[in-house]
Amino acid sequence: MQEIKFYSGENIPLELHKTRIVQKLHLVPIERRLEALYEGGFNTFRLSTKDVFLDMLTDSGTNAMSDEQLASMMHADDAYAGSQSFVRLHKAVQDVLGKKYLLPVHQGRAAENIISKAYIRKGNLIPMNYHFTTAMAHITENGGKIAELLYDEAYVMNSSHPFKGNMNIEKLEEIIKLNGAKNIPYIRMEASTNLIGGQPFSVQNLRDVRSLADKYGIRLVLDASLLGENAYLVLEREEEFKDSNIGEVIKVMTGMADLVYFSARKLSSSRGGGICTDSEEIYKELEAFVPLFEGFLTYGGISVREIESMAVGLYETLDETVISQSPSFIKYLVDDLDKAGISVVKPAGVLGAHVNAMDFCSHIPQTEYPAGSLAAALFLISGIRGMERGSISNQRDEYGNETYADMELLRLAVPRRVFTLSQIMFVADRLKWLHENKNLIGGLKFNYEPPVLRFFMGGLEPVNDWPQKLMAKFKEDFGDSL
Ligand code: F0G
Repeated sequence: MQEIKFYSGENIPLELHKTRIVQKLHLVPIERRLEALYEGGFNTFRLSTKDVFLDMLTDSGTNAMSDEQLASMMHADDAYAGSQSFVRLHKAVQDVLGKKYLLPVHQGRAAENIISKAYIRKGNLIPMNYHFTTAMAHITENGGKIAELLYDEAYVMNSSHPFKGNMNIEKLEEIIKLNGAKNIPYIRMEASTNLIGGQPFSVQNLRDVRSLADKYGIRLVLDASLLGENAYLVLEREEEFKDSNIGEVIKVMTGMADLVYFSARKLSSSRGGGICTDSEEIYKELEAFVPLFEGFLTYGGISVREIESMAVGLYETLDETVISQSPSFIKYLVDDLDKAGISVVKPAGVLGAHVNAMDFCSHIPQTEYPAGSLAAALFLISGIRGMERGSISNQRDEYGNETYADMELLRLAVPRRVFTLSQIMFVADRLKWLHENKNLIGGLKFNYEPPVLRFFMGGLEPVNDWPQKLMAKFKEDFGDSL
């Protein structure tokens, strides 16, 4: 792995790209940000980008695209069937992911819909390292249940464990014996486990899962949406692979899965998604769903221009300077916050920095959503839009009861090659101020709660006038500054 040292000895992540197209940002006054919060139901998903300064909601569809990706869009082959753009994408999938068959879908959850429809029957159980919101919603929608089988270490915030996304192998075997392999259509492994702070699993762990899958004759499904970053952390953290490259690690990992699916909005810095496999049988089991839900088999609901950029983006996933940029900025931010005494998920993972809202807002009970409150407070005092990854993002159980999240996190996504280092420093600066004034943050309550994936469009309101008080303190300390 290439490391560039500074003479000063400081550990500064250096950008190995230059900016050639830019988008102007606006930092609107705090009074407007307060209005925007009320208009958006204190839900950062419902904010308009005209009110947002740094958009750290997600890396999904917001990674910077490369000049090569944009150029490739110009020679897209518009055709309903048999498009050459699809031929190029198919080749990229074979070269990068090493899988023979590809079913294109419009994004990651479309793959989850098809896989769930094809394989899940009422009462089935899907063991996984950890759930992702949309993956779980599709499984339960089809009558299945999930079993999350991480090791205890995964829930330790301040940890140095290199692979908190590892599946608990002993528990996996127990669960299989208890429920019977017949009731388990597949085991799901999520690369760079999103909801516990973008934490990777090791290749060795995947091997152990594979051998249990073989022993009991169960399919292994790999969610590869954040596979590039998982592979990068394997290079950094797993001794056996210290002299390998990202492409080799990716192929070792995909080689163990019967079925690989991904959101191209993350994996290849484009839009779109895909399901791939080496098995003709699996391909045939899923094939008919694509024209039914997505579009013909050579576009799957994705524009051909995006298909071209997806192909190029997949090849760029092999470039360490592309894949390392976001994790190195995240590490910079996590180290800085940690030094300031702000509890964050450690070690630094991928996708974003994850602030421990349960600690930051220890005075707010889980019933009043500390992570959602922190997300709203940070937006108010900075224009930075993060995402609640806590109890609001959880779904109610089958009896309609709240299920409180294992972790209440504020996720600050760092999409690939989008932000500058001074912007990251601004994030840290405003969070440090907020931490000093944390007692001014109050709780939230729902005033509109949709039945499915409530976090997307749900509406909340503050339990009292804490936002006004927080704003007053901001103005006292910052004066005219935005
Ligand atoms: N799997 C993982 C691990 C994801 O992170 C996502 C999306 C999906 C599947 C679904 O893909 O959005 O293309 O339908 N994660 C986004 C996020 C939404 O913000 O973390 P999709």
